Amino acid sequence: MQYDVVVIGSGPGGYVGAIRCAQLGLKTAVVEKYKTFGGTCLNVGCIPSKALLDSSEHYHNAAHTFTTHGINLKDLKVDMKQMIARKDDVVAQNTAGITYLFKKNKIDSYEGVGSFVDKNTILVTKTDGTTETLSAKNVIIATGSKPTALPFLPIDKKRIITSTEALTLKEVPKSMVVIGGGVIGLELGSVYARLGTKVSVVEFLPSIIGTMDAGLGKELQRVLKKTLGMEFYMGHKVTGATTKGKTVTVTADTPKGESISLEADYCIVAVGRTAYTEGLGLDKIGITVEERGKKIPVNEHLETSVKGVYAIGDVIKGAMLAHKAEDEGTYVAETIAGQKPHINYNLIPGVVYTWPEVASVGLTEEQLKEKGIKYKAGSFPFKASGRAKASMDTDGFIKVLADADTDEVLGVHMIGPRAADMIAEAVIAMEFRASAEDIARTCHAHPTYTEALKEAALAATDNRAIHI
Ligand code: FAD
Ligand code: NAI
Repeated sequence: MQYDVVVIGSGPGGYVGAIRCAQLGLKTAVVEKYKTFGGTCLNVGCIPSKALLDSSEHYHNAAHTFTTHGINLKDLKVDMKQMIARKDDVVAQNTAGITYLFKKNKIDSYEGVGSFVDKNTILVTKTDGTTETLSAKNVIIATGSKPTALPFLPIDKKRIITSTEALTLKEVPKSMVVIGGGVIGLELGSVYARLGTKVSVVEFLPSIIGTMDAGLGKELQRVLKKTLGMEFYMGHKVTGATTKGKTVTVTADTPKGESISLEADYCIVAVGRTAYTEGLGLDKIGITVEERGKKIPVNEHLETSVKGVYAIGDVIKGAMLAHKAEDEGTYVAETIAGQKPHINYNLIPGVVYTWPEVASVGLTEEQLKEKGIKYKAGSFPFKASGRAKASMDTDGFIKVLADADTDEVLGVHMIGPRAADMIAEAVIAMEFRASAEDIARTCHAHPTYTEALKEAALAATDNRAIHI
């Protein structure tokens, strides 16, 4: 078959790129090695993790805050089988949605491993070993990433597991060690801590979610300890893990160099993800992946060193996020169609779906200091928000960072209720290069959590917050 575009991989990068290609009149095919579309995000990432986060949040609230609301429940218990079944159903609905969208947009799909024969020829190898050959004027590589393993700590997928296995546990573990205080470790750690598991996080750096504004990690650690009893071993270097029967023993060196060991039912290894290019045959077309992270090098148009071969999403540089992959899918489709699209990489929001949620866009205080940019900061705590008091979600704050001279908003960092949704307001404002005063003078509905953003913006402009 002859195509204008063949996309390898159907995650958020690949499927969005394919749909946009089809919308632009390009004859498009997608090659996906798994039985369902949607990649990591829909099958074993964003969607199932959020389904379990929602279920576990309901349980935790029912167990710990309902009585304060005047709601008394009897014999509350977790039905893990049902919780996982609902999560699987949510995943199935979402992946079926992609099948529908491919049909609607007349996109051909091929199940099998896609590999390069040459830059315009893709071989599809199916599970039964049969093959099919596709011709393509352009190829988009969207093969995503896989969990990074520590060389000295083999993952057995039974007791020493990755996020993928942690999404399908059949029981609520009594205890769990999470290696890595990043996004996966804290989200999945929260799921199980809410269900009653004793969760210990071992993190190499002095701060959790270390790439975000330092204030956020500090507050999140405080709240997770207070509300979920999560334990944090900061600045600890993991040295190994062994399994005996149903017990995992994780060893680590403390910041002082002493060795400690932690026993648990399970150990989740969440120390980052590595670009996935196995079996693609990149050597056939002369593409060499980067030594560190195995990423495919691309230019500013997301084109590889081979003309007509593009790469997007987790497999290339930048944040490993679904919305970044989606925007790159659209970008490449429009580039192939001859348009001149643009992505503002400075304004890709980052979100951690713990409770309280954490969300961030733009420069952190640490980055502003490092760059020597003069800035003003305004903060507003949720404990001063009427809406937050009503819902008993008073932990956290919103911080607005603005240029000291021009008042342009340079960064917004928030931890609090529904921060994941609220960050969009900051992204839009910054995309339009709003000043803190612009946000402060925009009418916000009352009572809402978003008033905290207005108040933080007021605080950033001459310390004018009203409610604190
Ligand atoms: P992927 O989604 O990884 O898709 C790649 C696809 O390519 C896969 O389906 C794979 O089977 C296929 N493939 C690979 N090689 C071949 C081949 N040779 N032939 C055919 N097919 C191939 N991001 C967020 O923004 N928000 C979140 O809340 C979030 N939560 C996450 C939770 C977890 C537990 C994990 C693990 C990740 C999460 N992420 C989240 C990250 C997000 O899933 C990724 O950034 C996103 O999926 C990347 O999209 P992609 O299209 O680049 O690749
Ligand atoms: P991460 O990069 O977010 O966090 C990894 C953490 O592990 C870091 O804090 C790091 O310092 C620590 N670490 C590394 N080696 C260690 C060691 N030997 N011992 C102890 N700690 C160690 O990676 P994570 O959590 O695995 O997530 C992978 C990717 O998936 C991220 O890039 C993220 O963007 C994406 N993701 C996004 C989500 C979201 O948007 N809400 C949710 C889940 C994943």
